[in-house]
Amino acid sequence: MLPAPYRVLRMDHQSATASQTPLAAEFVNVSKSFGAFTIIDDLNLQIRPSERVSLIGPSGSGKTTILRLLMTLERPNEGEIKVFGDILSAGGEGSAKARPDREFRAIRGKIGMVFQQFNLFPHMTALENVMEAPVQVLGMQRQEARDLAESLLKRVGLAEKGASYPSQLSGGQQQRVAIARALAMKPQIMLFDEITSALDPEVIGEVLEVVHNLAHETKMAMLVVTHEMGFARDIADRVIFMERGKIVEDGSPGEIFNAPRNDRTKAFLNAIKR
Ligand SMILES: Nc1ncnc2c1ncn2[C@@H]1O[C@H](COP(=O)(O)OP(=O)(O)O)[C@@H](O)[C@H]1O
Ligand SMILES: [Mg+2]
Repeated sequence: MLPAPYRVLRMDHQSATASQTPLAAEFVNVSKSFGAFTIIDDLNLQIRPSERVSLIGPSGSGKTTILRLLMTLERPNEGEIKVFGDILSAGGEGSAKARPDREFRAIRGKIGMVFQQFNLFPHMTALENVMEAPVQVLGMQRQEARDLAESLLKRVGLAEKGASYPSQLSGGQQQRVAIARALAMKPQIMLFDEITSALDPEVIGEVLEVVHNLAHETKMAMLVVTHEMGFARDIADRVIFMERGKIVEDGSPGEIFNAPRNDRTKAFLNAIKR
């Protein structure tokens, strides 16, 4: 049995958009540069609650930076990022860090991320890795956190691996622990950054299947950066192709993969098929 927050059927896409619910995430004229290089260039992007968006584009186009901005691992130079209507961060003086810590953490806590490199704590078992943030950040009782972690490890097909350390697990298993760890914070938006790029080919499928199932069994919004075009298509309501810090094309999976309009989208998809 899934823990309560995950036992929800996926919300109908249309009803989510038609309601007054604020956008899950919104970038308003966001720019980010590193030194002299503009990496995100006046980006406007809206993600609706429960929407699944695949973000594709060449290496260096700024995909990871978008996710890191949402995780507040980077801060914009200009513009504003909002999460469920609240300002998460902004360029200039408008940073949400000016808010009381508790308010900032509540906004930031709505977002979870899974990284290419799993980043598990090596000295903790799989179970302890999943329990850590609920206990340390949310102040959850250890028994409750343990129950939650057990149910989430089961959810990602690792019910038997709770006592294993990361070094005793395959890459695919470690990545599934990392997914369970992110879910333990009950995010409303999940970010996935090339989560299969560091994996051996034979375990990629088991990780993609876990994310596929999450997409069908939960109502989290998802922003998925991937080079697996089959997966990008499978998971998404919407696909965004970006290049040089800008959105080049934004459409349904059918539009982007079957009938891309932009020459650069076409060139990218052709190159990646080879
Ligand atoms: N912290 C940083 N300092 C300097 N340059 C960075 C930093 N993070 C990313 N970049 C540069 O920004 C560009 C875009 O990076 P990234 O968002 O990782 O692109 P993508 O994920 O699409 O490959 C890259 O050229 C990268 O070298
Ligand atoms: Mg990247």
